[in-house]
Parts: sequence; structure tokens; C-alpha cells
Amino acid sequence: MAEHLIIPETTSRKEVYDTLLPQIESLIAGEPDLTANLANVAAALKYAFGFFWVGFYLAKDGQLVLGPFQGPIACTRIDFDKGVCGACYTRRQTVLVPDVEQFPGHIACSSDSKSEIVVPGFKNGAVALVLDVDSDHLADFDEQDREGLEKLMRIVEKVL
Ligand code: SME
Repeated sequence: MAEHLIIPETTSRKEVYDTLLPQIESLIAGEPDLTANLANVAAALKYAFGFFWVGFYLAKDGQLVLGPFQGPIACTRIDFDKGVCGACYTRRQTVLVPDVEQFPGHIACSSDSKSEIVVPGFKNGAVALVLDVDSDHLADFDEQDREGLEKLMRIVEKVL
């Protein structure tokens, strides 16, 4: 296993995703433990992009339950129909929120969170987990993030 991630010095997030994703793929490919893999994915995203909060919620026992993450402490359980994470779960698609205050039902784990993107991951056709990324800047996420994070979830799905 490589000891360090190689991250290009660039302001282009697309370039960072393009360099990071193959490294994440090889990082998690040989490890069968899901918690270990999700922990490393969260750490890799935090290291590469410096996101305010990045982590996973896993669908279990009828709720979304907090999984490995990087950032401030967060709410541990979210109902399937609540918040941005719940919207992602029920719509079964990425939800991009430029201003969390404009999203009805947004769950504020931290008042510093200003914008958010949540991306689903599937197992046997059902949403098994969501990746939640929060920023302390308004409108911090765009189509490059959607594309990069959706590609990432296709990689994560291989180890579910
Ligand atoms: N804001 C999310 C809750 C999770 S925290 O941001 C880490 C939501 O509305 O679902």
C-alpha cells in the first residue's frame, strides 16, 4: 500500500479527482473491511480537497447511520425522508445544495456548513450508503464535484 497520496498542485478540482480516484481504487481494492475502506476514502477526500466535513451515512435498521468521516462531530442518525441525505436516499440520485438555508428540511449538524453535496452508493439496486460533503462556503460544489464523486461511488460500490 502506498504511504502517501499524490495530489497535483492545481486549482482544478477535475484534475485532482482524475489523479486521486485511481489512487483510492488501489488503496481499497485489497482490503475486505468496509469500515477501514470508508475511513480511508474520507481521509483521502479531506486531504486532497480540505473539505469542511466529508463522510458516509450507511442505510441500516431503517435509518441513515453515521459511518467513517472527517470533520466536526455530526448527527448520528437521519431518517430516510429527512435532510439532504434523506433526499439523496429517497430520490436515489445526487443532491447538490448551493445554499443549505434554502433547502427545506436541511439538517444543520454545524452552523458553519453553507453548501453541500450528497451522492448515493448502490448495492443490489438499493441505496446502501450516501457520501455527504459539506463546505463552509456558499455554492462550493459544481458539476465537476458531481462527476468526480459519482465516479468515486462507483469505485466504492465494488467493495460493498
Ligand atoms: N446536512 C445533512 C446532515 C448531515 S451533516 O451535514 C454531516 C443533511 O441535511 O442531511
